[in-house]
Amino acid sequence: MLEVTDLAYSYGTRNAVRQANFSVHQGECLGLLGPNGAGKTTTISCIVGLLSEWEGNLSLNGAEFRPAKRQADRGKLGFVPQELAVYLNLTAEENLNLFAKLHGLGRQERQRAVSEKLELAGLADRRRDLVGTFSGGMKRRLNLVAGLMHSPELVLLDEPTVGVDPQSRNHLFEMLLKLKSEGVALLYTTHYMEEAQRLCDRIAIMNEGTVVATGTPSELAEDAGESNADLEQVFLKLTGRSLKDI
Ligand SMILES: Nc1ncnc2c1ncn2[C@@H]1O[C@H](COP(=O)(O)OP(=O)(O)OP(=O)(O)O)[C@@H](O)[C@H]1O
Ligand SMILES: [Mg+2]
Repeated sequence: MLEVTDLAYSYGTRNAVRQANFSVHQGECLGLLGPNGAGKTTTISCIVGLLSEWEGNLSLNGAEFRPAKRQADRGKLGFVPQELAVYLNLTAEENLNLFAKLHGLGRQERQRAVSEKLELAGLADRRRDLVGTFSGGMKRRLNLVAGLMHSPELVLLDEPTVGVDPQSRNHLFEMLLKLKSEGVALLYTTHYMEEAQRLCDRIAIMNEGTVVATGTPSELAEDAGESNADLEQVFLKLTGRSLKDI
């Protein structure tokens, strides 16, 4: 579905992404795993179109993908930023209705989507409460579904679980597994190996701007020469560095 080929981006003289090659298929979650500064956020920003002037090639379903330039491409893409992007002084329902409107959904479609997404986020009983009264985890769940109102086929998430309590983290995972089962393609950045192992079908390991290996956790372990290796050992073998140290 999404093909990223030889993606490269520099902030001035700093080569944040040197060579990123990977693909994300329909109904799968690809985990982009790497330490701080590996280039994960930069990669996502290039795909979403927040950064331009990158080199390489991005395509979706075989056609050039340029969400910053084409509304049709934006309609296919859901982006869940790490920072909250919801209004605290509006209710959950009003927030989702607003996002649905911005994506051009008609009245009936909107009502259906708002109810469905409130249900998905486990917030149906809080629909008429101001978001400012929500816990951090509830705000995160709302933030996630706010990016899904237009039913995108590809969803990019940049460390959506940072600062989230374990219960809401579990709920987020369940939401993502449900999306996957509906055929949505997910690209998920994290530096938590346990998360990658639990949620992702395949993992792309990124180090110093380069995707150094891609595969299922067991393929990566085999490539590292140890079929029982966990992702931490694979990472150490591939990069000479430990994920935990960084
Ligand atoms: N706006 C910026 N201007 C200059 N350099 C930047 C900027 N944003 C990121 N960088 C640099 O680019 C490199 C990649 O950063 P990036 O944020 O993509 O990494 P990351 O893998 O998302 O890290 P983290 O796990 O900390 O979120 C780092 O060396 C970082 O210092
Ligand atoms: Mg980042």
